[in-house]
Amino acid sequence: MRATLRRLGDVIPLPVSVRPDPAANFLVSPTVSVSTDPAAADIADQLAELLRQATGHPVPVTGTGGSVEIVLGGYDKSEAYRIDIAAGGVTLRAGGNEGLFAAVQTLRQLLPVAEADEVTLPGGTIEDEPRFAYRGTMLDLARHFFTPDEIKSYVDLIVQFKINHLHLHLTDDQGWRLEIPGWPRLTEVGGGAGTGVGGVGGGFLTAAEYTDLVAYAGQRFVTIVPEIDLPGHVNAAQVAYPELTCDGEPVSPRTDAEVGYSSLCANRDETYAFVEDVIRTVAALTPGPFLHIGGDEAFSTPPEDYRRFLARVLPMPGKYGKRTVGWHEMAAVDLPPGAVAQYWRIEPADDGVARAADRGHQVIMSPADRSYLDMKYDKDSPLGLDWAGVVGVQRSYDWDPADRLPGVGEESLLGVEAPLWSETLRSPADIQFLAFPRLCAIAEIGWTPRAARNWPSFRERLATFGPRWTAQGINFHRSAEVDWLD
Ligand code: ACM
Repeated sequence: MRATLRRLGDVIPLPVSVRPDPAANFLVSPTVSVSTDPAAADIADQLAELLRQATGHPVPVTGTGGSVEIVLGGYDKSEAYRIDIAAGGVTLRAGGNEGLFAAVQTLRQLLPVAEADEVTLPGGTIEDEPRFAYRGTMLDLARHFFTPDEIKSYVDLIVQFKINHLHLHLTDDQGWRLEIPGWPRLTEVGGGAGTGVGGVGGGFLTAAEYTDLVAYAGQRFVTIVPEIDLPGHVNAAQVAYPELTCDGEPVSPRTDAEVGYSSLCANRDETYAFVEDVIRTVAALTPGPFLHIGGDEAFSTPPEDYRRFLARVLPMPGKYGKRTVGWHEMAAVDLPPGAVAQYWRIEPADDGVARAADRGHQVIMSPADRSYLDMKYDKDSPLGLDWAGVVGVQRSYDWDPADRLPGVGEESLLGVEAPLWSETLRSPADIQFLAFPRLCAIAEIGWTPRAARNWPSFRERLATFGPRWTAQGINFHRSAEVDWLD
């Protein structure tokens, strides 16, 4: 069977430059091989495997002389890459392995959706590099726990769209999802059966599972950003250790979806001993540069106490070698050097974030009315919430992070992130339904130059992913905003 030829530009996120040359199409012949710089051997193996899956050919990996060649060097930026497809061969070239990995994801989208005997790659040249260094998504493991294998499967999906940070919301009122040696009840009690919203699910990552997950993500150029949400969202920790409440009285487990009722006690030394133990442990387990301390919706922490708490806790990730990230409420105080504020609300302005940007802090843009993957697509969505409104595909695409907040322009942005809260999720299929296609919109906002992207183009390219996702078994949302190809 001959596969349909893809168009060189039918890629998400849209590359910086696409120059098709229909006279230069490359037929992937049965003798195709991949040759590589030894420093990119892993990438070559991954590419060879994708070519095998697409063609059924053996596709050996060799040192030199392959019809598909992987070259390191020639670019200063490690994520910048170039793909040349010509009748005589294909070259992938990048400044670093990140860029080669990105190039492979692009090439993968140019392969047919299912195995075919005769596969042709569209001729021409793609040159590409990202707009922002941080292109993220977040998964809430606290409201519903997903197993390490399920999280790895999500990593495998997000990398196809050049998402390079996975923020894990590891703790909340319902559950505590990361083993902390020295505080065993956090996970024995807080990670037990029935600790998800609705009393469903439960579980936690052992330190070893977390380490393995971080390594798995790292091999795919995804940085894990662990979040320990403080000083609110701590009911599960207080159930496990009543000494973490202000009066030392036990509290009851909660599996409803209320927020803002729990708080650590800013006036007790025990609070800071606990928090520092946790931050030290998480920092030691995490090779990436970021440690997220939450800071959102601390409605039951008096404002004075919130400030006192942050004054002691915000410097802690730095003490253990990490950059502090927090939801933007933390920008009510002066932030330590290098700290990153993550904007998540729906208001048109935020004085704290503008002040932080003015002082040189970077911002991750995650406005709930555009980037929250857990908002319903429309009023009939079977999954999701609607407190920030309904977020259709065009709504998730048609905005720009550099316009979102006064005082927070392009130069202040570290990037964008699409959080996925899990109150209504029960399975990987549910993750897929809410993430696809909207995560692709956020991925393109994070990668593609602003001037190069527009909704009609995105919508048309997105339509070509319907058959691919169907072939991959992905439970994507067939939004009526897109004329999906069959
Ligand atoms: C948040 O949605 N509470 C960060």
